Amino acid sequence: MMSAASINKYRRVIVGVLLAAVAAAGGVVGVAGALSMDYYYMSCPFAEMVVFNVVGEALYKDPTLAAGLLRLHFHDCFVQGCDASVLLDSTSDNTAEKDAPANRSLRGFEVIDAIKEALEAQCPGTVSCADILALAARDAVYTAGGPYYVVATGRRDGFRSDAADTVALPAPSLNASVLTKMFASHGFTVPELVALSGGHTLGVAHCASFKNRLSSFDATNDVDPSLDASLAASLGSTCGSGGDGATAEFDSTSNAFDTDYFRGLQERRGLLTSDQTLAGSPETEMLVNMFAVSQPMFFYTFQQGMLKMGQLDLKLDGDVRRSCRILN
Ligand code: HEM
Ligand SMILES: *[C@@H]1O[C@H](CO)[C@@H](O)[C@H](O)[C@H]1NC(C)=O
Ligand SMILES: *[C@@H]1O[C@H](CO)[C@@H](O)[C@H](O)[C@H]1NC(C)=O
Repeated sequence: MMSAASINKYRRVIVGVLLAAVAAAGGVVGVAGALSMDYYYMSCPFAEMVVFNVVGEALYKDPTLAAGLLRLHFHDCFVQGCDASVLLDSTSDNTAEKDAPANRSLRGFEVIDAIKEALEAQCPGTVSCADILALAARDAVYTAGGPYYVVATGRRDGFRSDAADTVALPAPSLNASVLTKMFASHGFTVPELVALSGGHTLGVAHCASFKNRLSSFDATNDVDPSLDASLAASLGSTCGSGGDGATAEFDSTSNAFDTDYFRGLQERRGLLTSDQTLAGSPETEMLVNMFAVSQPMFFYTFQQGMLKMGQLDLKLDGDVRRSCRILN
């Protein structure tokens, strides 16, 4: 049996080999013009290594932060593009995205701060917070057992962060057809929607996000009929005693990036309406069934989706913040 440490070492070697292979191939297809594979090659050659190490240390102390880091990148990119707007703190005259009700318990900000601090020490004013989010999400996924994919860099940090903009985020009550349209408007295919939803293989949700399924669901049912009865009962007792702030895991292995989420959907154990709905319409159900049995298909489609997500609405006129929380 390999120890956790030696598995980690082994995985690090794989990263090195992958990086070399990609460099040899001259980059990846599908990188938007604004980004490149070797953006910090001259200006901050160890940037990616710094991110990888700080993420690794943070997850070693608290493996649940992998979920937080992945979600931060998603919330950044879906609101005003990948411009680190999600990281800005509110000011006396502006309520930032992170303080909108839709922020729903974002976490991992202190990991981003630690990465930024380490990078500012090495190459001041060089690596954007938006790139840090993209790299940290990738490293979190990989460290949690998910795929390793190459992230092009060169994103710029934006100047705007308005709580009202978070209407762009999908609500947990949405059904598959609305989600499909919403993701298509950002250029995502249906397989990418389903694979990206598989990001919920990590982390937890608060009762506030799924209590719509537990009681007064509709006129005839107390509980969402698409929710497994025994799970409904246990969630009911979690939320009954803990209220809106109590949490439940999306799948049974919430710190491991695996196919468990999809097997859960097959067993009607999806947590949010927006999760379980994927197993409830023919086109998405086919994909749920495929990803449930094929980790390679899930990983491949997830990374295609992440590459697209990481390039949403890039700003060419942004800057590089010195602190990710405050405008320069
Ligand atoms: C498809 C539409 C999506 C909806 C409706 C949705 C909604 C939500 C909600 C309501 C929560 C729980 C918030 C809380 O109660 O604390 C959550 C958590 C999370 N979401 Fe999503 N999400 C979606 C897509 C995504 C995508 C594309 C990703 C990343 C690829 C993602 C990654 C996560 C992660 C990792 C968590 C757990 C966070 C933690 O444990 O701190 N989600 N999402
Ligand atoms: C999220 O927003 C709420 C207000 O809706 C606020 O109390 C909370 O501090 C915010 N969370 C973060 C991490 O900023
Ligand atoms: C999905 O939700 C939308 C908006 O609430 C609704 O109009 C539509 O009929 C729903 N679709 C299905 C298949 O339930």
